[in-house]
Amino acid sequence: MEYSRPTRHATLEVTVSSYENYSEVSRIYDHMRRPVGVQQTLDWLSRSAPAGTLEILDAGCGTGQFSEVLLPYVRALQCVELNPGMLDVARGKLLGAGAAVTFHQGDLLELPLADNSVDGACINQVLHHLPDDDSWSLMRRAFQEIRRVLRPGGTFVFNTCTNEQLAKGYWYFKLLPERTLKAMGARYAPLDVVNAQLAAVGFGEIEHHVPDQVIFGDNYLRSDGPLDSDWRRADSTWTHATPAELDTILQRVRDMQAAGTLQAWMHAADASRRGVGQVTLVAAQG
Ligand SMILES: C[S@@+](CC[C@H](N)C(=O)[O-])C[C@H]1O[C@@H](n2cnc3c(N)ncnc32)[C@H](O)[C@@H]1O
Repeated sequence: MEYSRPTRHATLEVTVSSYENYSEVSRIYDHMRRPVGVQQTLDWLSRSAPAGTLEILDAGCGTGQFSEVLLPYVRALQCVELNPGMLDVARGKLLGAGAAVTFHQGDLLELPLADNSVDGACINQVLHHLPDDDSWSLMRRAFQEIRRVLRPGGTFVFNTCTNEQLAKGYWYFKLLPERTLKAMGARYAPLDVVNAQLAAVGFGEIEHHVPDQVIFGDNYLRSDGPLDSDWRRADSTWTHATPAELDTILQRVRDMQAAGTLQAWMHAADASRRGVGQVTLVAAQG
């Protein structure tokens, strides 16, 4: 199959994310978020070549959370990130790695890497920020780019969420209006579409895994989290609520807090996460 280099999508030249301000988020991201599914990601990536010899691309690396944990197991890392604030945090975090890490401020739809140049690649929680539509053409373009830069036999690991995970895997989403969840759900391609798009650009041997971890780590079961703007900022779903909707939500949380019922409400709302999880990892062979 022939892979043509994609042309740049005009919207991305100015927005980075189609709805989140990552220059602000870079300030708090590492206080709130934890990388999820690292062991499985590493196990899959290590299929391409023995651990320690791998050259890996972390596309949309953000503050470098995945890169940091992958670093001890790889020979070299290529970190690509569009937002300069997020990339600066990654640079600071990975300073000690020296020449093993190369940073690129760039777009994963137009990767600044040569064809067949990496053994493995991951995209973790990024593609829902593309201004994609029902045809998922930008997701497909991202998959094409990954396929282009992967060496033959290389592994691609894609970390995403299903709509069921959005509906059941995050207790605080149950505070949000149905409309906001629909808006968020529409940004994540269904897994059958992901599988079909991967196959369409030439990937095979597609596998899925749901890790039993939460993206906020110890910060997740904080019942007063919604009252903390930094806590909310670490999950872009909140950006879909209007200021009036947010006021109503925060008042409800304060009311439950005052009534002493908030903690129990949170645990009840979290019960549906069991067996569903928060994220889905997809592996595909190039
Ligand atoms: C939710 S964060 C995930 C960061 C990191 N992968 C992680 O799992 O911690 C999404 C990141 O994708 C970046 N991003 C969004 N669109 C991008 C694009 N077209 N090219 C490169 N990075 C992009 C954002 O700037 C942000 O840092």
